[in-house]
Amino acid sequence: MVPIVTTPRLMAVGGGALAELPDTLRRIGLSQPLVVTDPYIASCGILDRATALFDSAQIRWSVFSDTVADPTTAVVETGTRRLADGDFDSVVAIGGGSSIDTAKAMSVLVANGGQMRDYKVPGDIPKAGPPVVAIPTTAGTGAEVTRFTVITDTATDEKMLIAGLPCCPLAAIVDYELTLSMPLRLTADTGLDSLTHAIEAYVSRRANPFTDGLDKSAMGLIARHIRTACAEPDNRPAREAMMLGATTAGMAFSNASVCLVHGMSRPIGAFFHVPHGLSNAMLLPEITAFSVPAALERYADCARAMGVAEEDEGSQAAVARLLDELRALNTDLKVPTPRAWGIDAMRYEELLPVMASQALGSGSPANNPRTPTSDEIIELYRRVYG
Ligand SMILES: [Fe+2]
Repeated sequence: MVPIVTTPRLMAVGGGALAELPDTLRRIGLSQPLVVTDPYIASCGILDRATALFDSAQIRWSVFSDTVADPTTAVVETGTRRLADGDFDSVVAIGGGSSIDTAKAMSVLVANGGQMRDYKVPGDIPKAGPPVVAIPTTAGTGAEVTRFTVITDTATDEKMLIAGLPCCPLAAIVDYELTLSMPLRLTADTGLDSLTHAIEAYVSRRANPFTDGLDKSAMGLIARHIRTACAEPDNRPAREAMMLGATTAGMAFSNASVCLVHGMSRPIGAFFHVPHGLSNAMLLPEITAFSVPAALERYADCARAMGVAEEDEGSQAAVARLLDELRALNTDLKVPTPRAWGIDAMRYEELLPVMASQALGSGSPANNPRTPTSDEIIELYRRVYG
């Protein structure tokens, strides 16, 4: 089957790109945005810079700044009422993946009604809502370019994956300067999320020649710069590389999907409130070891793209280096095991069947080169617990 590729229509990419915000809206015929962001962005000066740009371009704007980490159906519903009650033609999301995902979900809900769970995978989203313009302030989830949003159902604690063209932002402003000074933990977690996107999209059963190039580029950028970005928060070349890596990995996984790591990561996030990138990182080395036998050459390519294996090195040796590097990254960037993070052993064990069922239900494990059974997922959860 020919891959169908979805990307935003317009992207401004580079240091200082935020200044393009009014023109970006104008170019796609939008003039009355509701800005969706979180309390931190609303207070740190970034929101003020965006609204000052609107003011100087005489664009009327309003702000919904109540987004939360791991966005919930409750917050999305509040935001959707706000969007429906005003005279808005667009949603401008400024923030990390949570704010961008909230904006996407609000756009879906305002256009289609009902409840968020009506649209979870494999559900369909009938209508596109007001266009989303996404401005990431982390590098990152790639949410600025993906056709996905992930929303936690307040009633069931399930992290629901919602997918479709109406979730893809119409435009993105990718300005690495917004990530300067970001603290180590956030840099590491979001960077490891991006690396996971690139690796998973590359080994995915739905990988294609378009996404392969993006993945290799992203893996090279992220693997070579993540430690520097963490150690030197104001290192501009490192920040630029991380942002480019995050966005290109986002374009790749939006079109090739993520796999078992993300499938298993969402339930850990939903039940134990582990940040998304961190729960991915907890899983990545072991899930990679589990999956390697089914896609040795592809994983060896990952090692080469990341610069941890020589181009002419055999695949078996290259994959051993990949596993070593993924474990070293977790050590260097202080990624804890679920046990060290404080997850209660009894509660974890008790929830394993439902976590495995939610992981399989998301569809992501079906893209994995080695497709796991429910029992194998439970065993993998036990193996990473620590
Ligand atoms: Fe992710």
